[in-house]
Amino acid sequence: MFENRIPLFPKKTTIEHDQLFINQVDISEAAKQYGTPLYVYDQAEMDSALNSYKSALDKYWGIDNWGITYAGKAYLSSHICQWITANEIDLDCTGAGEIGIAAHAGVSAAHIKVHGVNKTAEDLAAAIQYSGTIIVDNLTELNRLAVLSKANPLPELWLRFQPGSSVQTHSFTQTGHAGSKFGMDTEQIRFAVAFCKENNLPVTGLHFHQGSQFRDPEPIGDGITRALDLVKEIGFEGDWHLSPGGGWGIAYHETELPDPSIDQYIQFVAALVKEGCDQRGLTLPKLHLEPGRSLVARAGVSVYEVNALKTVGGKTWALIDGGLADNPRHALYGARYSCLRTNSPFSSETQQVSLAGPYCESGDVLIEDIDLPKLTEGEFVAIPVSGAYHLSMASNYNGARRPAVILLHDGKTTLIQRRETIKDLIDRDHLL
Ligand SMILES: Cc1ncc(COP(=O)(O)O)c(C=O)c1O
Repeated sequence: MFENRIPLFPKKTTIEHDQLFINQVDISEAAKQYGTPLYVYDQAEMDSALNSYKSALDKYWGIDNWGITYAGKAYLSSHICQWITANEIDLDCTGAGEIGIAAHAGVSAAHIKVHGVNKTAEDLAAAIQYSGTIIVDNLTELNRLAVLSKANPLPELWLRFQPGSSVQTHSFTQTGHAGSKFGMDTEQIRFAVAFCKENNLPVTGLHFHQGSQFRDPEPIGDGITRALDLVKEIGFEGDWHLSPGGGWGIAYHETELPDPSIDQYIQFVAALVKEGCDQRGLTLPKLHLEPGRSLVARAGVSVYEVNALKTVGGKTWALIDGGLADNPRHALYGARYSCLRTNSPFSSETQQVSLAGPYCESGDVLIEDIDLPKLTEGEFVAIPVSGAYHLSMASNYNGARRPAVILLHDGKTTLIQRRETIKDLIDRDHLL
């Protein structure tokens, strides 16, 4: 009955003995072993998404002149950092906190790129000590870097350009439009480049990001055109870098079209940049893509226990043991999710329910009105496409302890983040 939801899960998802398995792991058994809410990440799915980017960049841009920077804001942990190092890609860190996680897990400075719309003195110090590139958001930041450069050599600097156009997506995740809080307009970039020349600052690239969760690359064309016009005018000495950011989308629900093709996205971007450079007589830059969600969202699945069922005012609620505190996306953007029961997922005895969490907000709902097999208290449900912008936005609301995270690999499970404890909740407090 719900077979059309399977493609939302990692490719290695199967139903065996009437149970949901991912990469040969029985998800109900994993939930019993590690407790719920539980986040599972399928290593094979992450590798497969990364390989799609790598092979498309090789095919359409050319060997060895591109970079992939995983956007750590999507989900960051020590294991993700190790995966980045093993795959020789870069990591986008926002601020000293993410830099600290990367440094702890051994990501080399050369592979760390530092973003941030409002970098504090602490962020800038961490970026100078432990990164290969700082993406400068504004002129105040540039001024501060000029002062800091007197005491310490700076990493390479790229300038964040606000192209004045965004991709089509929820307004909360648009970033490139005129008046967005991110980046500098044309006039400010001109000033920044002149300032870098005067102050001998190592500016080597231009970056822009027009938004997240888009599937039509067309507006990127506008960003690329404006960026290349600017590069033609300002010029870069020697090798230079261009990053049209990340944001490539992914399907969250069976009613959406399947995942947009990474191959076609890269083909589109590469062709436009090549053509644009050719028309303007520019040498080809090193091309950097900055995906977050399209690398890890599908690999992650969240698993919850149904604690209570109730019907009130004609509406049936399945009250599960997580929600807004580990996944704020429905509350933030009205994100629409799908779901499977982990045992007998395709059972034909169905009911319509809404899945809500235990927290004291009416907005603590993960899914409104979904058909599922008739649920019983104590059963588990699995929500696909949970790998990005859940845990990285998770909170301790109502004393929630952030969930455990396990990695699935060829029938084996490994705990990569333990569940928070009450001790974690009180460790920062001082009793007076
Ligand atoms: C500068 C920048 N790069 C990359 C990303 C990654 O976006 P996504 O996870 O949608 O690919 C974001 C997301 O907000 C971003 O702000």
